[in-house]
Amino acid sequence: MHVAIIMDGNGRWANRRGLPRTVGHAEGARTVRRIVEAAVEAGIGTLTLYAFSADNWGRPPDEVTRLMKLFQRYLFTETQYCLEQDVRLNIVGRRDRLDPALLRAIDNSEKITAGCQRMHLRMAVDYSARRSIQQAALAFTRAGADPDAPQANARFLGLINEANHSAQAPDVDLLIRTGGEKRLSDFLLWECAYAELHFTDCLWPEFSREELRKAL
Ligand code: FPP
Repeated sequence: MHVAIIMDGNGRWANRRGLPRTVGHAEGARTVRRIVEAAVEAGIGTLTLYAFSADNWGRPPDEVTRLMKLFQRYLFTETQYCLEQDVRLNIVGRRDRLDPALLRAIDNSEKITAGCQRMHLRMAVDYSARRSIQQAALAFTRAGADPDAPQANARFLGLINEANHSAQAPDVDLLIRTGGEKRLSDFLLWECAYAELHFTDCLWPEFSREELRKAL
């Protein structure tokens, strides 16, 4: 099963406590740890988490910097856990706008966990579904592929994964969005063609193992 999550509500969680938004993101990173563990235990095959959209570059520079630092720290602290749990870690999205230090951390984590097979954990950073569909469409056309061929959709999905620097991943079975909004926000638009959608008002820092269990 492929489960994808739009992790929304960090800012509101912090605002309600009179804290800076970045504290909400740090708390959100703790939730990521908890939910990854729960997903491994639940036997989920692929988990894709929306960590940073291409549009998120428009946030205040300080917030962007802190988010990037959080991703880097996550890779440093969680790669060993992933290896021990047989989890393959992939960062999906564009690579050309990321800081070199973050790129090195990504490269390191991906190499170390490349052979892991229990779960495929994909973190979407600088991600845009529309852009990846455009990239795949270009590659599809350049290859002279036939959209009516029996395996055309599978081939297209493969090209989308390539455009996102992702190891092969299947279509999404269940999409979860926390934080109360009911929209897709340019996330996995092709892969969610047949996905079931689960929206919850729960803010991401409060999303629990129990909430995941209910969604499943
Ligand atoms: C949306 O909340 C969340 C993000 C833009 C970033 C997601 C990041 C994390 C969950 C933390 C770090 C992740 C990793 C992988 C270490 P928002 O700030 O838009 O919330 P709001 O809608 O309440 O303002």
